[in-house]
Order: sequence, then structure tokens, then C-alpha cells
Amino acid sequence: MSDRPPVDLLIENADRVVTLAGSGPVANAGWDDLGIIEHGSVAIAGDRIAAVGRTDAVREAVTITGETCVIDARGRMVTPGFVDPHTHFLFAGNRAEEYGMRVEGVPYQTIREQGGGIRSTVRAFREATDDELTDAGRARLSMMLQAGTTTVEGKSGYGLSMADEMRALRIIRKLGEEMPLTIVPTFLGAHDIPPEFDGDRAGYIDLVIHKMIPEASRIAVFCDVFCEQGYFDRAESKRILMAGREHGMIPKLHAEEFVPMGGGELAAEVGAISADHLLVITDEGVAAMADAGVIGVLLPGTTIGLASGRWADIEKFRRGGLPVALATDCNPGSSYTISQACILSLACSLLKMTVPEAWAGVTRNAAAAIGLQESVGTLETGKIADCLVFSENHPAAVPYRFGQNLIDFVIRNGNLLPSFD
Ligand code: NIG
Ligand code: FE
Repeated sequence: MSDRPPVDLLIENADRVVTLAGSGPVANAGWDDLGIIEHGSVAIAGDRIAAVGRTDAVREAVTITGETCVIDARGRMVTPGFVDPHTHFLFAGNRAEEYGMRVEGVPYQTIREQGGGIRSTVRAFREATDDELTDAGRARLSMMLQAGTTTVEGKSGYGLSMADEMRALRIIRKLGEEMPLTIVPTFLGAHDIPPEFDGDRAGYIDLVIHKMIPEASRIAVFCDVFCEQGYFDRAESKRILMAGREHGMIPKLHAEEFVPMGGGELAAEVGAISADHLLVITDEGVAAMADAGVIGVLLPGTTIGLASGRWADIEKFRRGGLPVALATDCNPGSSYTISQACILSLACSLLKMTVPEAWAGVTRNAAAAIGLQESVGTLETGKIADCLVFSENHPAAVPYRFGQNLIDFVIRNGNLLPSFD
């Protein structure tokens, strides 16, 4: 065995390789945490990164064979593939009209009281065939991949019946087997109370706990709850998350979005991997999360989708030393985007996150928010070879050039995906 392993793919001469190297999530990331290598190279053997370093050093460390595909990344930047740790990508229908209403000032909760909101997507989901749902999910995943997302979390939560929640999880699993990106399934049976349980929320929560959770745990890695006034209160959320845990699903929460309910403290109490949204979280909630090692996931796409002009207060997380990840929250109600590059722009310009904080948010910390920090989210020897080659050469250029796809190549599991233009 040669100590200079043969490589299948070599990306070299990049102006910058942004490795984000380091173990676990990082709070208050600075420029040093980006782990930038100038004139850098990433060498890939099979589905793994074989070497990362300066181009001359990597050339000496590996063997280039007649089969090696070499990409000259001069003038370009290489980064880890985006990780999107919070999405509802599997849905049917469209709620563009509701967005139009919100732009004119009608609140999200009022739209729900008028029969819109999550329940309108539940109706569309239940009416859709498996094929229709699969096609809709596939189309969104394919757009995500083109936009650089190589790992994505996907939730159920628009079925809200035993059969439809399981249908959602089976389709999410099938898409994960079929599509060239890693999909992590989450059970979100507690997204809302379905209309047939109006007046019997206890009955629906019983169904979630006693019937859905045991079945869902055969597929889902995480169990999520919409812990929010008018949806599931703190005690209900706790029961559901603990039941999920008993069946081996790791807790995750939609928390502290509209009304403070102690969602940060609850996340810490139930041993959640993340608590997501956090627009109205208190300093105490942040401290509880930081102590318990819960990641904060911010979803600034909702500021656009809800046309709310409200967003999370990044200073709270900095003060509390809490690692923060970023996600699209891709869903037909509050945030219909598939693009983590777009989220980088919102994070920097609205949330006032620094460029290094935002990049850590869509890579290293995002991987930690779905428990995959050992395999993806950074460019380090031995990790899964998921990386992006950008036409720009500086990490600030991606949020700066908002709304544009600046990716020339997507590499997933060591495979160079077909070019998209
Ligand atoms: O993350 N907040 C709850 N769930 C979604 C919205 C779902 C919907 O409106 O369809 C969210 O924002
Ligand atoms: Fe969500």
C-alpha cells in the first residue's frame, strides 16, 4: 500500500479552500475558524476526502493516475457542501395568496383562523397521490442540490393522520435512497391539530404518542414539535418529545417563534439536539441551551415569507456563547426558499451575523444540528467528500451577490454532479 493514495478527483489551485476544520459546533466564529487555505487543493478517493492543503503539498501527498479527474479551481473558492438542517420540503399545493395577504399586513395566525396556514397544506397533502408528492419533493431536492445543498433534513407534518404521516416519512426515505444527497428524516406529527380533532386535542396528542411515534421511529431520526401558542404548549410538547425519545428519536423543536414559552429551557430539559426559530427567546433560555449543548437554528427566510420585519437577536446568542446554525425552513407557509446561499445573505444583512458566523451556520454548525458533525460540514481528511466550487474566490462574495447561484461544481459523496447549465 502506497503512502501516497491514488485519488479519483483532485480540485486544485483554488484561490481559497474554506475548510471550516475543527471538531463540533463553533460559537462566535471568527475568520480564523473558516480555516482558509490559499492556493488550496482537495483530493478525493472514493466517497472520502483523501487530503486537503496547499496545492503543492497535496500533489506530493497523493498519486494522480490516468483515471484522476482534475479540476483547476484557479480564481475560485472551494467550500463544504451546504447542510440544510431544517426543512419541510415534502408538501403539495401552494400558498402564494397567503403571502400576498401577509404583505398587506394580515398576520400568519389570522390566516390560519380563516382556514389557511398549515391546515391548507394538510388538505393538499392528503389529496395528493404518492407519485405527485414524490415528484414535488424530487423537484425541490434537485433545486437544492443545484444550489449547493448536499445534506438536508426533511420533516413530515402535513399529513397529521397515521396513514399520511407514515406516507410522508416513507416518501422522504425513498427520495433519500434515490437522490444524490443525504436526507435525514424527522417526524413532526405535532405540527398542528388536524381539523377532525377540533375540540379533542387530547385525542390527537394520544394518537401521536401511542400510535404514530412507535411507527414513525422506524424511519425518523428526530422527533419535532411546533411548541407555540395556539399549537402545542410546553407540557404537551414535553410529553411528545419524551415519548419520541423513548422510541429512540432525538428531540428537536420549533421554539420561541412568536410568543415566549420557555422553549429554550424545554429543549435543554428534554436533551434536544436543536431548538429552531428563537426570535423571542430570553437570555435564560439561551443559557439553558448552551449549558445542555443544544444548537440554536435560525431561520431568517421566515422574515421574508411572513413579511414580518422581525428576526432573531444575534447578540443574545453571542452573549450566551451558543453555537448557531442556519436553515432554509423550506415550506409553503413561512419560508419558501430552497437556497442556503440566499440564507447566507439574509443572515449577514438582516441578522447582522458576520460572514464567518454565517458560513459556520450553513456548514459545520448545521451538521451538528442534525448529528452529522463527524461526517459532513467541514473539509477534513476522512470526511465525506461533499464540496462546492464557487466561481467567486471569497466567502463574503456569496452573501454579497444575493440571489445568484455562483456554484460551478457540486461534488457529493465524491461524485462530480452533472453540470447544470
Ligand atoms: O417552520 N412553524 C411551523 N412550521 C413552519 C411553517 C409551516 C407552514 O406554515 O406550513 C415553520 O415556519
Ligand atoms: Fe419549520
